[in-house]
Amino acid sequence: MTNGPDPLTGKTVIVTGASSGIGREVATMLAQRGAAVVLAARRRERIDALVESILEAGGRAIAVPTDVTRITDVQALVQRAIEEFGRLDVLVNNAGLARLGRLEQQDVHDWSAMIDVNVRGLLHGLAAALPVFRRQGRGHVVTTVSTSGIKISPTMAVYAATKNAARTIMEGLRAESTDGVIRTTEISPGFVRTELADGMEPSAREQIQAGMREFGLDPVAVARAVCFAIEQPDGVEIGALTIRPAVQD
Ligand SMILES: NC(=O)c1ccc[n+]([C@@H]2O[C@H](COP(=O)([O-])OP(=O)(O)OC[C@H]3O[C@@H](n4cnc5c(N)ncnc54)[C@H](OP(=O)(O)O)[C@@H]3O)[C@@H](O)[C@H]2O)c1
Repeated sequence: MTNGPDPLTGKTVIVTGASSGIGREVATMLAQRGAAVVLAARRRERIDALVESILEAGGRAIAVPTDVTRITDVQALVQRAIEEFGRLDVLVNNAGLARLGRLEQQDVHDWSAMIDVNVRGLLHGLAAALPVFRRQGRGHVVTTVSTSGIKISPTMAVYAATKNAARTIMEGLRAESTDGVIRTTEISPGFVRTELADGMEPSAREQIQAGMREFGLDPVAVARAVCFAIEQPDGVEIGALTIRPAVQD
């Protein structure tokens, strides 16, 4: 262990879904460790407030209101990061939506909404960032997946499917990136205490929020894992990390 500068200092990192939960904590921790963070989400007042608190603490941050389901928004987000900080080192694709329900409920609107955010949103991020990473000769994509894609529980089929689509896309990107230019990391959290269940229908919301209250992790645990993946020296790729409460089945 050396006492040199923090390896995160000076990196520019976009965090999508930075307005709450895991993304908010990831952005905060990265900024505390010297990274310049670009906060993306739809709720502008939330990301503006987080920028303010990061700046007050001496960090570097900007807020870029973004809907990841719109490719033009995500392209503008990447553009803005480069204009402000000169380069983009890491894209953390963390924006996500969970609308749980049994398949026979046929919530086709919710299915589409999850596919739009969790799959199309990720693809939009890649479409916008990969050309930049290629031009720079380096870059890192970190994506928040989920343990719900590993153990498929009732009500989670479509959510899990979107997360496994994300996992497959990330593995495809890894396979296409063995020239060492682009590093890829999938982070799979288990239960984490966030706002993820807030928009669910009442019975699913009750069930998920009870789990979050009983044994959900503090989002800090996931933020530490993201920082660990990003701080690795050139040439070292943390491919996948699973962070779940020790009591989660
Ligand atoms: N909490 C858990 O137990 C858990 C477990 C495994 C995986 N995950 C994953 O972790 C990630 C973060 O979720 P969280 O638990 O922190 O939940 P959260 O508190 O609800 O955060 C979700 C974030 O995604 C953003 N978002 C949603 N739709 C968006 C869109 N169309 N465009 C841009 N941003 C959008 C939200 O911001 P706005 O509403 O302001 O746009 C919010 O910042 C998600 O990918 C989730 O699937 C969570």
